[in-house]
Amino acid sequence: MIEDKTLPLEEIDPAYCDRGIYFGDGVYEVMRSYNGKLFAFEEHIQRFAQSLVGIEINGIDLDDIRSRVRCAFEQAKIPNAKIYWHVTRGSGPRDHCGGNDLTPNFFLTVMELNDAAADEEKKKGIAVSTHPDWRWKRCDIKSLNLLANVLARRDAQKKGCSEAILFDEHGLVTEGSASAFFVIFGKTLQTAPLTANILPSITRAFVLDAAKSVGLELLEKSFTPHDAAAASEMFIAVTTKDIVPVVKFDESKIGDGTPGPYVKKLIEEFRNKFKISKS
Ligand code: PDD
Repeated sequence: MIEDKTLPLEEIDPAYCDRGIYFGDGVYEVMRSYNGKLFAFEEHIQRFAQSLVGIEINGIDLDDIRSRVRCAFEQAKIPNAKIYWHVTRGSGPRDHCGGNDLTPNFFLTVMELNDAAADEEKKKGIAVSTHPDWRWKRCDIKSLNLLANVLARRDAQKKGCSEAILFDEHGLVTEGSASAFFVIFGKTLQTAPLTANILPSITRAFVLDAAKSVGLELLEKSFTPHDAAAASEMFIAVTTKDIVPVVKFDESKIGDGTPGPYVKKLIEEFRNKFKISKS
């Protein structure tokens, strides 16, 4: 066992006193690159700015964030990368309020995405399971507080599923634990509205845009898990994987148990529309 080290408070590495650890007091972003090009960079920066405002972390220079992201991405030389960054309110002794004189901490990683695995999921489709939405009331903020998301995803994993689809106290589906969620009934693409305490997903916005081009009508209106189980097709959408078909929803088989025609068209359309290529 590693021996405990006792030292005066002032000598502790500030990384241990990060308010991100104590309180999840920070906000983050996840974006990706396709074939050496950052995808939807400005959209992510703007959402990040909203998140900072949402939790009153002031004085962050967005140009500084932009150049740190670009610089790290260029240095990493990973063409299809997942770029994660967060800013916390800073480091200090554990005190809920924290004061206004802390220096925010910035942290960033660039990692290779496993696109081959995601492509496999796209071909076969994934299984999802429902879980109560235990999150707070400001899910429009991309906050580091992700415990409810973690627990839901772990529950899904135990059930052999790839994602948890959350439903709120009114019994209405909100979104995935880390993805937007869509159902298709006939020619109508339905998803919860942004007012339903969900993240303004960037992929969601792109999907809504692409949907019109494949002849789908849009309906931003909440629905129940029971409604969803009767959908002809469904999928999740997230930056790291774009669109992934869902073929099993709890115990219900969706369509014939393989990705349906509209989802396949949407995947195509998404790629074409945003001129995405991975090689
Ligand atoms: N999650 N909803 C939630 C709760 C999310 O955490 C995410 C993304 C999305 C999709 O948003 P976007 O299309 O902007 O990626 C929706 C990221 C990837 C994560 O936490 O790792």
